[in-house]
Amino acid sequence: MDPMKEFFLFLSRQKSLHKMLSSSGPFCVITRRFVSGDTIEEGVKASKELNQKGVMVSLDCLGESVLDEKMADAVVQEYLKIMEHIKDEEAFKISVSLKLTQLGLDIGKELCLKNLRQILQKAKDYGKLVTIDMEDTPYTDRTIDIYKSMLAEGFKGTGIVIQSYLRRTESDIRNMLPLGPRVRLCKGAYKEPATVAFPDKKDVDKNYLNILSILLSKEALGYGTYPEVASHDEKIINWTLDYVKKNNIAHDKFEFQMLYGIRRDLQEKLAKQGYRIRAYVPYGTHCYPYFMRRLAERPANVLFMAKNMLYR
Ligand code: FDA
Repeated sequence: MDPMKEFFLFLSRQKSLHKMLSSSGPFCVITRRFVSGDTIEEGVKASKELNQKGVMVSLDCLGESVLDEKMADAVVQEYLKIMEHIKDEEAFKISVSLKLTQLGLDIGKELCLKNLRQILQKAKDYGKLVTIDMEDTPYTDRTIDIYKSMLAEGFKGTGIVIQSYLRRTESDIRNMLPLGPRVRLCKGAYKEPATVAFPDKKDVDKNYLNILSILLSKEALGYGTYPEVASHDEKIINWTLDYVKKNNIAHDKFEFQMLYGIRRDLQEKLAKQGYRIRAYVPYGTHCYPYFMRRLAERPANVLFMAKNMLYR
């Protein structure tokens, strides 16, 4: 792994830095390139601005690794509030993303399920979609199990993130296909050992296209699978555009997704061309690990931000 990438992923796991920087005003200002603001209001405002440009949104309240039951409940209340803010928006335009460790998965699976159900029930009442983010591999099995059980309980508007850097992913996807899942396919953002994840980027990219061709196959679409191509990689986007044209796959059978603040040009271009494109819009003060993972993906961001701060 690139040493800079490794360095930022190492920093992303440093709890003391997280604590120190999360309450620092200047740090929060720096993160604004990737984080829409501190509050629901700011997140919703950024979402509506994107909607006006034809870009749909998945709104995320930042947070992870919650170890306190009361804090997990506060997260539930925050998501219920999000639902109130977005209930009158067109159903598909603003969806929601969340992490299971934010809902107390580290405290206990039952607590996490109870918390998740409350959010999914509200989402169902308001006709909103919710996607469960994928965290690092200690959580992969539990995340997939919980996702499947939520579908079985009738929460059909639920989607899941799947990572192409994991060696297990093809088998996970093949097992899930008959459920007609909504799958946000990404490359993967955590530090993982070579025993479970491909260490070379070219293998991660190759596996991405392999998984994507399974998700876009006639068989998968026939089950009702809805592929979400979550990448800023133009090779992957162009490959998808070619594939859907060649196979006559309609524009409403899949969508592109990107992160807030990354490749805004490409997001707007795809929207103008009539493709479905959704931005993942995070807000909140727990931005430290999220921000560090964005730096790890592209260490050049550090230079870019330093220049911006110098010339402000
Ligand atoms: P790649 O890293 O190859 O980058 C391709 C190009 O995109 C770069 O050359 C650059 O131009 C641009 N780019 C990428 N990252 C950038 C950055 N940080 N800053 C500026 N430019 C950048 N991961 C995970 O493990 N669990 C999850 O739940 C999610 N959820 C998620 C949702 C959505 C909607 C997206 C788009 C991504 C995620 N991810 C994620 C993150 C994902 O795993 C991955 O780390 C990033 O998307 C970067 O990978 P790319 O596919 O963009 O390719």
